[in-house]
Amino acid sequence: MIKIKSEELNKLSWEDFYSTPLKDKLKFFEKDGQLFDCLFSEQFSKPLLERIFETASRILSIAKSKGGMDWLQTLLSHKRAMLYFVQPSTRTFVSFQSACYILGLKVSDIRSTSTSSELKGESPEDTIRTFSSYADLIVMRHFQEGMAEKSAYLLNHTKRPVRIINGGSGKDQHPTQALLDMYTLFLSFADRGGIDNKTIMMVGDLKRGRTVRSLTFLLKNYKNVKLIYVAPEYLKIGDDIKAFLKKNKMPFVESDNLVKNLKLADAVYMTRIQDEYDINNESKDIDYSKFHLKKEMLVNLKKNAIIMHPLPRRAEIDIEIDNDPRAMYWRQERNGMWVRAALMAYMFGKDTEILKFANQ
Ligand code: NCD
Repeated sequence: MIKIKSEELNKLSWEDFYSTPLKDKLKFFEKDGQLFDCLFSEQFSKPLLERIFETASRILSIAKSKGGMDWLQTLLSHKRAMLYFVQPSTRTFVSFQSACYILGLKVSDIRSTSTSSELKGESPEDTIRTFSSYADLIVMRHFQEGMAEKSAYLLNHTKRPVRIINGGSGKDQHPTQALLDMYTLFLSFADRGGIDNKTIMMVGDLKRGRTVRSLTFLLKNYKNVKLIYVAPEYLKIGDDIKAFLKKNKMPFVESDNLVKNLKLADAVYMTRIQDEYDINNESKDIDYSKFHLKKEMLVNLKKNAIIMHPLPRRAEIDIEIDNDPRAMYWRQERNGMWVRAALMAYMFGKDTEILKFANQ
């Protein structure tokens, strides 16, 4: 296979760059051997994941005291972040904002194209370039697939490249959600041999759920993880993901039967139907109730299994389940703040200081 050199990557038009296989262009998003932009789950190796998880746990423990929190807030007090979230978001937005506060980053935000100059006809590309005049980091959520990558491509060709973190790009990827999902699995299985050899069952809209896609990519970093994908016929996992699983020799099965598979799972990852991506209101014909987790089903779930959900939920998980010791989704949500702080600390070269501080 011919490898594309960095100088050649730099010369590609956006269209040619976008169609270049991911593995050939990952180095375009790195600087000095570190991630510069965080756009795809495929950018994370196992050592990097575990470095970020360790940092997240240290930040959590340092932040428990006022002195610790005051110290954390000095780390990036000289940096500014722009949160550009033009697709609905509650927890990703607030957890990034909170993570920025923890590290002392100054935050600005735009939450809708209706309040930015895009309403006056400015292109998203010019909007992004404008942010780079004021910020050192752009965290973005966009309805258009590939927009985070395109923004990074554009800015890396300017004299003021600033870091981009993808907070969700259409139906495509949500790498920081995958990081917090993995961190949750990592902590939950810490005293049970880790993530290796575990069975993860993902349930719901697997076709359009970007969290499921990004999490699958990250699971490749662990040995012999088995996947069970449970979805209605129309919402089955995509062929690109199946090709990825086969290529990486990751065992998986597909099913439309939640109850039958429940007993096999070490983690059950529930998701809501992503009907905002409907083209013709097609979701209304799908009986999604078969993909809801009900309290009475839990007798079939292993005693030490965990129940996850990226949230928001509708009726996928009975609220009665919230008090079951296996329900992990609220903790999972909170883990997002620590892991996002850890990611930003790493990207700005501050994580070693954090790891050293906690060692004292
Ligand atoms: C997810 C998303 O936006 O993809 N939410 C989140 O970031 N926690 C899942 C969803 O919206 O269903």
